Amino acid sequence: MCGIVGAVAQRNVVPILLEGLQRLEYRGYDSAGLVVVRDGQLERVRSTGRVAELTEKSAATHGLIGIAHTRWATHGAPSERNAHPHISKNHIAVVHNGIIENYEALRTYLTAAGYEFTSDTDTEVIAHLVHSHYARGNSLLAATQAALAELVGAYAIGVIAADNPDQLICARRGSPLLLGVGSGEHFVASDVSALLPVTRQVVYLEEGDVVELGRLGYRIFDAQGTQVERAVQVSELSNESVQLGAYRHYMQKEIHEQPQALADTLESVCNSQSLVPGIFGAEAAATFADIDSILILACGTSHHAGLAARYWLEEIAGIRCNVEIASEYRYRTSVPNPKTLVVVISQSGETADTQAALNHAKAQGHGHTLAICNVPESALVRLCKLRLLTRAGPEIGVASTKAFTTQLAALFLLTLVLAKTRGRLTAQQEQQYLHELRHLPSAVQKVLELEPLIAKLAEHFAGKQHALFLGRGLHYPIALEGALKLKEISYIHAEAYPAGELKHGPLALVDKDMPVISVAPNDALLEKLKSNLQEVRARGGELYVFADADTHIHAADGIHIMQMPEHAGYLSPILHTIPLQLLAYYVALQKGTDVDKPRNLAKSVTVE
Ligand code: G6P
Repeated sequence: MCGIVGAVAQRNVVPILLEGLQRLEYRGYDSAGLVVVRDGQLERVRSTGRVAELTEKSAATHGLIGIAHTRWATHGAPSERNAHPHISKNHIAVVHNGIIENYEALRTYLTAAGYEFTSDTDTEVIAHLVHSHYARGNSLLAATQAALAELVGAYAIGVIAADNPDQLICARRGSPLLLGVGSGEHFVASDVSALLPVTRQVVYLEEGDVVELGRLGYRIFDAQGTQVERAVQVSELSNESVQLGAYRHYMQKEIHEQPQALADTLESVCNSQSLVPGIFGAEAAATFADIDSILILACGTSHHAGLAARYWLEEIAGIRCNVEIASEYRYRTSVPNPKTLVVVISQSGETADTQAALNHAKAQGHGHTLAICNVPESALVRLCKLRLLTRAGPEIGVASTKAFTTQLAALFLLTLVLAKTRGRLTAQQEQQYLHELRHLPSAVQKVLELEPLIAKLAEHFAGKQHALFLGRGLHYPIALEGALKLKEISYIHAEAYPAGELKHGPLALVDKDMPVISVAPNDALLEKLKSNLQEVRARGGELYVFADADTHIHAADGIHIMQMPEHAGYLSPILHTIPLQLLAYYVALQKGTDVDKPRNLAKSVTVE
């Protein structure tokens, strides 16, 4: 959600900015823009289309310093006048990611001071504020620091001035931003993938940092204004890992990467003979011995992973578990328990609501915190005492796939380690689970072979307006995830219900036009599920059943069966997720939607 790229170099930075923006497209945006300094003037280009359109419009633009932005509208409609960069008095240009909460008061004050607003954005106040301090003779750094002191809210920003072609100022608080270190050139970006063509050496900024970037060096100041050193790290992200390769879409690529992503996430555990708390961090053993319950906080797909984990945690580890949507929890009065382990789950590690929920939990006295996250240097990882990193690699498609299944794998590990800590895992069971985890990547690979059949099945859905997903128990969250995938990328209205709840409402919706998709593992609830499916069939509903091999659910008129290769016991939700991802993908193809960048959605939701 919103992307920033900036560069100060001894060569034309426009191609660097444009390529960076293109690599940030996946975060979600509705307009884009850039600005450079050329002959003492700011030269700005903006567009409401794709980055490709901005590239065409910038063909004649040239400069050795510049900032660029992809915008995801919050304040003001997606339009060229609201697109960043925003400029004050032809002199100061700003790009911003985040939300300035006190912008209305600042706008009133700045208007009275003679500043003219040309957009509806909150960002424009930053440009005018920096200008007001710069015009009083402050350096660009000091002017930006003074402006930031007046802001309430979250930001990552880049600032340049028309009469200062050598300095780029950037800062972060609540939104991600990192520096790229080159030779004779320096860069800034929202995430490392934007900088891979120019450098691998990066500096992750801390909350409140303000940076002055020049061609030959940079200076970082912390929230108190003290100059500080931050470690330069070499990113391990390969350029190939963010390239599409032979696939048609990132989502398809990422669905197919799941066997490897799971193998990588489970690597350290599968190579050892026993499960140890240490995989969650040095303090994990002491923490796990102290806790009596779990509270999971997350959003979107990550929340669904939490819902599935609750079944494992309560049943296998015998530990009480609550799962809450982060955006609700952060404003809810709840009863804190210092013996609770707060687990935040996030692909990006930057989701604003999840961060706020974690901070809310901490403020309530929760000291035990664990992040399950796919981005090692992200805010959530840094905010938690314990961590387990999923190793899914970069996920570019907005609809989360490999991040979800690796989150499930990580949560299963948490379950097993807690079960062992609590004396609920025999040595034999431990070995059996380790065996099943080692087998998981190849089991997922086998499910992927259903792809051609699912592509065919998807043709049935292209003309549908609605779909109902059913699951029971541990697989109800998988039905939720299947419905989310379908609505996100095909725009078909999809709902998920626990099958036992059918009679209490959704059955009223069932007729021949309502496809009903059911997850049917061979577990203890199978016979109950079969009865629920009969209820659907009796009302003329068309059934699409993803059934384990030995469930004895047979194809018939109005009943379409997709046979899963095997039943994976407790790990079954991971296998059953795959065909639902593929189904959503192929239905979206049928409908011709923008699979990787669905309308109105963003990959990283860094604002509330
Ligand atoms: C957005 C994304 C979803 C994701 C959710 C939570 O809505 O489009 O795919 O599940 O944010 O993101 P997180 O990075 O915290 O897992």
